[in-house]
Amino acid sequence: MKIIEIEGNRNLTGQVRISGAKNATVALIPAAILTDEEATICNVPEITDTTALCDILELLKVKVNRSTESVVINPQTMENVEIGEEYSKKLRASYYFMGALLGKYKKAVMYFPGGCSIGARPIDLHLKGFEALGATVTNEDNKYIVEAEELKGANIYLDIASVGATINIMLAAVKAKGKTVIDNAAKEPEIVNVATFLNNMGAKISGAGTSTITIQGVEKLHKCFHEVIPDRIEAGTYIIIGALCGTDFKVDNVIPEHIDSLLSKLKEMGVNLEIGTDYVNVINRNEKLKATNIKTAVYPGFATDLQQPFTVLLTQATGKSKVTETIWENRFMHIPYLRELGANIEIKNQTATIMGPTKLKGAEVVATDLRAGAAMVAAALLAEGKTTITNAEHILRGYEQLVEKLTAVGAKIAIKEI
Ligand code: EPZ
Repeated sequence: MKIIEIEGNRNLTGQVRISGAKNATVALIPAAILTDEEATICNVPEITDTTALCDILELLKVKVNRSTESVVINPQTMENVEIGEEYSKKLRASYYFMGALLGKYKKAVMYFPGGCSIGARPIDLHLKGFEALGATVTNEDNKYIVEAEELKGANIYLDIASVGATINIMLAAVKAKGKTVIDNAAKEPEIVNVATFLNNMGAKISGAGTSTITIQGVEKLHKCFHEVIPDRIEAGTYIIIGALCGTDFKVDNVIPEHIDSLLSKLKEMGVNLEIGTDYVNVINRNEKLKATNIKTAVYPGFATDLQQPFTVLLTQATGKSKVTETIWENRFMHIPYLRELGANIEIKNQTATIMGPTKLKGAEVVATDLRAGAAMVAAALLAEGKTTITNAEHILRGYEQLVEKLTAVGAKIAIKEI
C-alpha cells in the first residue's frame, strides 16, 4: 500500500502546471481503436488509469508507444479478444472498450468495470443505447457479451445526462449505418474533446457540448493527431489548495470557462483571484472567507468531482455552509476523516452542513476514493503537524506527479510504499 505523509501549515507559492484531463484521456485511448491507422494523442497524463488502459490495448494486440506526455496507438495487428475481469475492474473507464469494440467489430466481450466506490454506478443507459443501435446484450456473472449483426443509427433519449453513456454510445454509433441522435446528452468538455478526436479521424459528429448530439455513421476512420484538454478537476483542486494555503499561487494551463461554477463560488466566498486567459492565480489567502452553499450538478453546474476538495475550503469559512451531492449516493466518505482532522460537519441524507472556521490538526486518515483522497491532501496541507494518508493509490489514479508539483510550490510531502 502507498501512503502520503504531509507536514502541513506551510505557505505555498509558485506555479503548478495542469496536466491533460484524466476523464478525456480515458475515453480517447479506447476511441483510438476505431481507426485501422495510427492515432497520436498528446498531453496524456502519466497516471495509473492511463497505464491500465494501455494494458488493455496490449491485451488486444494493439501496438502502443508511450513517451513523455504522448501515446501512439496503432491497431493494425489488433485482435478482438475477451477483456478479463482483472483488466476491466481496474478502472471505470474500461467500459469505453464496450462501445469502441462494438463499433469496430460489432462484438465486445468484457466484465463489469471497476472504479471508485462512490455509488452503485449502473451501466444500464450504456446498454440500452447499444440495444437501440441493434445490439443484443447477454450478461452472466458480471460478464457482458454485446453483439450485433449490423449497427443502425437510432434516436436515443438518455434518462440521465450520463457522461459515460453519452461517450460510449458515440463510440458505438460512429461507424453505424445512418444517423444517430442522442438526446439529453451530457455536455461535459471531455465529451467535446472525444467528439473532436473522432471528427479528426473522419467521423461526422455534431452538437457535442449541447444536449443533442448527432452522429452520421461513416465507413472508415483514418489516422490523426490529437491533444487532450487540460484537466479541469485537477485545476480546481489546485486552485482550492491555493485558496487554503497559497500566496501568489499560479495554476497554469487552465481553461477558466471549464471551471466557471467553481470560480464564481470562490469569488462569492472572498478568495482573492486573478483569472487570466489560461491561468488562475490565487493572490493570497483570505482569513475571512464567507460561508456558502453548493449543490453538485451535471456540467456546467458545480462538478461532483470538486465537491470533496471544496468541502475542505468550507471548513475555513465563517458560518454555516451546505454541500448537497446529487450525482453520487456515496460521495461523503471524506467527511469522517475531515472530522478526524478537526472539522465540524454533520451529514443528513445527501447534504453535509459545515460549521466554520475550524483549525485543522494532522491525523491518520484514509483516501477512500480518488477525490476524497484529493480532499485529504488539501486538508493535510493546511493542518498543523503531520498527516498520514493511507490508500494513496486512489489519488495516483487521477493526479499526475502530485508529490513533485506540490513540492515545487513549497509543500513538505512524501509518498512511501509500506
Ligand atoms: C464520469 O463518470 C466521471 N468518470 C466521474 O469522475 C464523474 O464523477 C461523473 O462522470 C459525473 O461527472 C469518468 O469520466 C471516467 P455518469 P460516469 O454516467 O460517466 C447514473 C472522477 O473522480 N447512471 O455521468 O460513470 C450514475 O449512477 C470520476 O474522476 C445510471 O444510472 O458518470 C450517476 O448517478 C468519479 N446509469 C449519474 O448517472 C448509467 O448507465 C451520472 O453518472 C450511467 C449512469
